[in-house]
Amino acid sequence: MYKLFMTREIPFPATEKIKKMFDVTIWPKYTPPSKEDIINNAKGVDALVTTLEDKITCEIIEKLSPNLKIIAQYAVGFDNVDLECATKHGVYVTNTPDVLTDATADVAWALILSVSRRIVESDKFVRSGKWYTLGSAWHPTLMLGYDVYGKTIGIVGGGRIGYAVAKRAKGFDMNILYSSRSRHKEMEELGAKYVDMNTLFKESDIVSLHVPLTKETANMVNENLLRLMKKTSILINTARGKVVDLDALYKALKEGWIAGAGLDVYPSEPLDPRHPITTLDNVVLLPHIGSATHETRAKMADLVYKNLEMFFNGEIPLTLVNK
Ligand code: DGY
Repeated sequence: MYKLFMTREIPFPATEKIKKMFDVTIWPKYTPPSKEDIINNAKGVDALVTTLEDKITCEIIEKLSPNLKIIAQYAVGFDNVDLECATKHGVYVTNTPDVLTDATADVAWALILSVSRRIVESDKFVRSGKWYTLGSAWHPTLMLGYDVYGKTIGIVGGGRIGYAVAKRAKGFDMNILYSSRSRHKEMEELGAKYVDMNTLFKESDIVSLHVPLTKETANMVNENLLRLMKKTSILINTARGKVVDLDALYKALKEGWIAGAGLDVYPSEPLDPRHPITTLDNVVLLPHIGSATHETRAKMADLVYKNLEMFFNGEIPLTLVNK
């Protein structure tokens, strides 16, 4: 029986199938295993099941070589895995695209609406008793936000999730701009206009990020781009935290260069609650829950299983990353 180490308990039906197929060790804690924990627990394994929180460095890959044959990542993003090193050692890497596209696009939209219409701030206003204390039930200027329908949304990244966000924007009668390395037929069929990044940041009322973390996208949303945005615009990030310079974003929000932001991801996770951004009312902060639905997480587990099954049956896994 092949040996497999899972860096986290993934409590969905597919895990039971994985347990039948492999001699499985599962990291028992809620917190992630350290580098040493991975090396010690995965000694001699043929397969690893990892999450985006596990830094699978070249050192780990080399320590587990030549037994290690496949790293099945339980996420679409795989910037935590040293892909070049895995490829060099003949280790296959798979991810879980497609199945989480809609759930992540929904969270981007939850943030768009929450930030634009000040939903979280309004909820706090009611619970804290401030509404009650003010003594007026309805006031012409209470909790004014910004319209979403009919506005311009700028989508950075023309991939699956960006496209799913654009499809939803159609329902809000929005003008859609997108920027990516190349043009995307599906985006254009939707009526989205391909523009350069500066134009997108200048003209959009809502900028939503949907790019993977790479050398090119790291710190891409910096002070220069933020300064191009309209004072009434908002920034949404459900992609990867390191794509945005968080200190520059804090400045932009604090000094009013932009109206608000919605974040699901951060350069360092979990976000330190002492980070000054947590003191601002014009930002909605989520704990990296883009794919966090019962259905989606179960489908991600199914895809991990499918990839492992195919690989150990001598087939090319369905969603191989290092082709
Ligand atoms: C992913 O799969 O990369 C997401 O960030 C997880 O929610």
